[in-house]
Amino acid sequence: MTTRRTFLKSSAVGAAALAVPTSAPAEGKADTLNIALIGCGGMGKAHLSLLVKNKQLKIAYVCDVDEKRLADAAKIATAAGHEPKAEKDLRKILDDKAVNAVWMATPDHWHAPGAILAADHGKHVYVEKPCSHNIREGRLMIDAAKRNKVNIQVGTQSRSTKTCQEAMDRIKGGAIGDILAVKAWNSQLRRNLGHVKPSEPPAHIDYDTWLGPAPVAPFYTNRVHGSWRFFMDYGAGDMGNDGVHDIDVGVWGLGVDALPNRVAALGGKYFFDDDQEWPDTQYVVCEYDAGNGGKAPRQFIFEQRIWSPYVQEDYENGCAFYGTKGMLIIGHEAGWKLFGEKNKPIEQMVGKVELAKHHQNFIDAVLKGDKLAAPVEVGHISAGICHLANISTRLRKTIEFDPAKEVITNSAEANAMVRRKYREHWSVPKGV
Ligand SMILES: NC(=O)c1ccc[n+]([C@@H]2O[C@H](COP(=O)([O-])OP(=O)(O)OC[C@H]3O[C@@H](n4cnc5c(N)ncnc54)[C@H](O)[C@@H]3O)[C@@H](O)[C@H]2O)c1
Repeated sequence: MTTRRTFLKSSAVGAAALAVPTSAPAEGKADTLNIALIGCGGMGKAHLSLLVKNKQLKIAYVCDVDEKRLADAAKIATAAGHEPKAEKDLRKILDDKAVNAVWMATPDHWHAPGAILAADHGKHVYVEKPCSHNIREGRLMIDAAKRNKVNIQVGTQSRSTKTCQEAMDRIKGGAIGDILAVKAWNSQLRRNLGHVKPSEPPAHIDYDTWLGPAPVAPFYTNRVHGSWRFFMDYGAGDMGNDGVHDIDVGVWGLGVDALPNRVAALGGKYFFDDDQEWPDTQYVVCEYDAGNGGKAPRQFIFEQRIWSPYVQEDYENGCAFYGTKGMLIIGHEAGWKLFGEKNKPIEQMVGKVELAKHHQNFIDAVLKGDKLAAPVEVGHISAGICHLANISTRLRKTIEFDPAKEVITNSAEANAMVRRKYREHWSVPKGV
């Protein structure tokens, strides 16, 4: 985590005095940043619509391997008064010393490779969730942030959201007593992806770079764009997609800064008859031993049913904290309700997630040394729970995990899945 002391040595402001290759701030001012958006799809555009309005930012580059999306993004930024260069190869952006920070909104399999490369070029990084495609990558991202003394913020914007912060204040103030169990859930209604035959990638997409470090595979229209998250080589299923937001809120309230000691999970494709590879139905129980973030042993539960035409506990996605004196239930992008003994309603708050505030927190961390709301150390825990749960689900095996060494101790087969197989590619991080 970047502290105020390391910030002064590392940030754009202090760059001139530094050996690390951190780039200078825009036009030598300490109050603006030159940034690049890498990945201009659904979420990239959601970021861009806010980033173009932030007076502390200059959009220096937009980057996408899809020429059409790239042109669209350039048009949006230009219309808002920026002068972005449109670039297909992220390496050219990283080589530009004038770029201070990058926003990475690529598919998940590019998060760690791209973020680590960017950090190694001295760039501060805002990277989308889940921060990694596997546990090892998350650890290497933490190492890269420390090694290069840069900020890596993960796109779990609940961390910067007032309603969630207030809920955490109640929890930390003892409003529900000691929390012994937390349950996050994802009960969204997803669509059938169909059965699709491979086809030639469209000429406007550089599909080889889209694949990047992932194994070579034919092009499928139900993977690119958007639905890649439901395929194992590129995403972590809907648990790593929307579920990770609620899992992140759960670990925040539980106050843990390490992965659990064991994980048991079951699930599969009970509903969808289509090409997607990850479970549509999943039940996960993680156990934290006494001493791993708390005095007593605690459970972290995750439930997924991405076919429900109704919501659970009033919220489509959410997280419930079960304490010895009461219960607090948070809905993603909705608010929360606090109950006491015998379900007595005590307090409630309504509110939406605040993405622009999460951006601003990252900008303030880079320019002023503020503490990141979702540093990669934090993102690694919520993403890591997804990865462990998916390993347990795939192998139908309870796994014992050593949180200090980040290895699975009771199965060589499971432990091999702490990492992934990469093809030979310039983006593969060292040490994977
Ligand atoms: N924080 C949130 O609330 C939230 C919401 C939705 C999505 N997301 C995250 O945002 C990320 C993107 O999701 P999406 O739905 O926008 O996916 P998407 O498929 O619509 O967009 C990804 C874009 O990245 C581009 N891309 C792929 N490889 C690239 C590379 N090497 N260089 C440049 N561009 C590259 C693709 O061409 C595509 O345009 C995911 O990690 C997802 O989990 C976060």
